[in-house]
Order: sequence, then structure tokens, then C-alpha cells
Amino acid sequence: MLYKHPHGNVFYRNMNHPRPKIAYGQGIYLYDESGKRYIDGSGGPLVINVGHGRAEIVEAMARQAQLAAYVHATMFTSEPLEAYAAALAEVTPLPEPRFYFLSSGSEVVEGAIKLARQIQMARGEERRHVVLSRWNSYHGMTLGALAVSGRPGLRSPYLDMLHDVPHIPSPYLYRYPMTGEQLAGRLEEAIVALGAENVAAFIAEPTSGASLGAALPPDDYWPRVRAICDRYGVLLIADEVLVGFGRMGKMWALEHWQTVPDILVASKGTAGGYFPLGFIAARGADVEQVRVALGDFNHGGTFSHHAVGAAAGLATLGIMQREKLVENSATMGALMGELLHEALDDHPHVGDIRGRGLFWGIELVQDRATKQPFPKKEGITHHLTDRAFDLGLIIYHSVGCADGVNGDVVMLGPPLIVDEAQVREMVAILTETIRRELGHA
Ligand SMILES: Cc1ncc(COP(=O)(O)O)c(C=O)c1O
Repeated sequence: MLYKHPHGNVFYRNMNHPRPKIAYGQGIYLYDESGKRYIDGSGGPLVINVGHGRAEIVEAMARQAQLAAYVHATMFTSEPLEAYAAALAEVTPLPEPRFYFLSSGSEVVEGAIKLARQIQMARGEERRHVVLSRWNSYHGMTLGALAVSGRPGLRSPYLDMLHDVPHIPSPYLYRYPMTGEQLAGRLEEAIVALGAENVAAFIAEPTSGASLGAALPPDDYWPRVRAICDRYGVLLIADEVLVGFGRMGKMWALEHWQTVPDILVASKGTAGGYFPLGFIAARGADVEQVRVALGDFNHGGTFSHHAVGAAAGLATLGIMQREKLVENSATMGALMGELLHEALDDHPHVGDIRGRGLFWGIELVQDRATKQPFPKKEGITHHLTDRAFDLGLIIYHSVGCADGVNGDVVMLGPPLIVDEAQVREMVAILTETIRRELGHA
């Protein structure tokens, strides 16, 4: 007889790690069916920005679902969709932006790659089809998004199925100290080697997300990348799926470096976790050129432009603006950084503490002097995540940053509604977790 997992007929990514059943969430807290309380210190993989249990979003979704739960984008538009796009246009730095809505980060990445190709075709640049990306990046689980991703562990079973994408290094100053000029120079070298006439776009996360845990670039990196893309006619796609929507203390992470992309993609916090929603934003002039030259955008999506999703996104954006959550992310994030440094700077296994706004990563090492990572088989981040969970704090983690296999990062990325006492409590529990698992400073 087949082994019956505690989850019955469901199977999950973590096949050997049964999870408790959720009862409900309120604010930054989650409660499981036994009544145990957890601080949602990471919103899963950095999704929850306006907190759990927001009746305003639920009501907006219910209203639209009652009116018309679903219409296909080739047949109707809807009031929340038009209103949401107009509201987004006010907060998105692209000139006269236009928006295409889908259901996940992977989907908007795929869509952005196809849009870049079509913008190049509309410009008469038929040969431009190569999309450049970076190592130590993550852009999604679908094969096209995985091909541009740079996480060897996630790519390895599928290598023969992935199309060939040239990757350049990500800024990772803790292990690879490089100047902005050197890092951006790698982009220019790659474009020249491939022949600029073949290169459609460069896709990157403005600040590394889960792969490197909030590794920031040198300050001149993005302006240099922008200039190189302009020089060679390469479109710049900013993947703001994880770091956008206020997560890093500005509406969009690239705003920290006064850089405007050609295409921006967002998801995760877009509808606060209440609906699977994401979008591609592009410059109005580029979208118009596609319309004039090609007629249509050759793409699709049964659930694209979802009216209930748009209602959820609009209500989420409204809360973010009314409650000034981007500003709160900047101030509470600065406090979080200070407290993390205060508590953990001297810990023998804390190699680096990095981040901005309400997204912080802590890289753990076996030896601080040599930066030697723990071997993957020790499962350090898994133990830390489980221990924090036991202590009532949900954190996020990733493995492989140091060399593609080894290297442990744990991350905090709580809802943007957090207050000072909650930030203090989160840092205290995380510090306690690290001390219990890895010893005292
Ligand atoms: C930067 C980035 N892009 C894309 C994705 C893919 O998003 P999704 O998991 O919603 O498909 C992720 C998910 O973690 C991400 O962090």
C-alpha cells in the first residue's frame, strides 16, 4: 500500500516536512488550528505587505465577484481594471505606462521577455532575440523564467530543457567585491561578444531577492547599466516582483538609484496576497509601436486582466497610500537594520547583514575570517527556519549563495504595516533562534 502522508491527497514541494493547518491571520500575525500564534516575519516569500485580514480588500473582491467574477480579456474590460491601471500609472515611473495583468511572477517575467522581443521587432530590429540575465538570480519556475534565472540548484534537473541564456555576475559585494564600473562592464562585454544586433533585453532584480538575500549593488551600478542598455539599444527589464511595491522603502527598488527601466514587472505584494496577481508595465510609446507595427501583442492568458484581481490590487494600493506604508517601510526598515547589527554583528557565524527598507538578509558562515560557508548537508537554514517557527516567527531562507550549492541566508520581510515594538520582537526572536542553533556571540 502507498504511504499516506499526513496531508492526505495533497503533495507539496517539501515532501518530507508536514506543516500545521492555518486557521486565520490578522495584521502581522498568523494563527494555526491549535491556536498557536506566529509573527509573519516574511509574508511567506515576501508577499504580505498590507497585513492579513484586511476586510476592505475582501469586500472589494466580493463586490466584483458578485457583479462579474470572470470575463476574458479579449471580450471585455472592467471598471476595477481600468481604475487600477490608472492608479498604477500615477506611481510607476515609466513615461505614460501601460499595464498587462497576469497571475504570478513567473508569468509576468515570461510575458516581459516576449514583450521585449516584440518591441524590438516593432522597431525593425528583427534579429534581436537574446535576453541577458545574471547568475544568483531568480525569475520564476516556468521554463522560460527558469532559463533566465541563475540558481544552479533549481536549474540542474532541467538544463537540457532550458533555452540558452547568457548570464553575467550579480552584485554580491560580500564575497566578490567589485566596483559598479566593473560589474556593469560585464554587461557591456557580454553585449559586444554576442553582437548588440542580436540582444533584445537585459533582465535583473534591482536588488537580489531570495537568491542572495538582499545583496545591494554599488550605487553607480544601475545608472551605468542604464547607460549601457541605451548605448546598445538593449531593453532593460526590472524584475521588481520581490523588491517592488514598497518592500525596500521606495515604491520601486530601482528608484533608489534614479533609474527608469523600459519594462517593469511586479507580483507578490501587488494584491497583498489576497489574489494571485502580477503585471508587466511598459512605456506607452513602446506599446503603441507594437500596436502600429505588429497589430497585437502576441501573448495570452486565460486569467489575464482578471477583474477580481484588479479589485484586490486597487484596494491594496489604496491601503498602501492611505497608511503611508512605503514611508513606514523606510523608517521601520532602518530600525530593523540597526537592531540586527546591534544584536548580531559580533556573532561568530554571522558573516554579513544586508538590506534596506523591510527586506533584510543575514548570511551565515562557518568561519567569518575565511567566509567559509557551512556544508549544505548540515541544513543550517532549515534548522534556523524550523527553530524560528517553533518560537513563533516565520522567516524566509535560501541555500546556495556562496557557490551554487553551499551558502546559507535567512531573511526578514514582514508586512509593511509593522510598528516599532513588533520590529523589536522579531529581531529578538531571530537573535534567540540564531543563538540557540549556532551558539552565543
Ligand atoms: C524576483 C522574482 N521574480 C519572479 C519570481 C517568480 O514569481 P512566482 O513565484 O509568483 O511565479 C520570484 C519568486 O520568488 C521572484 O522573487
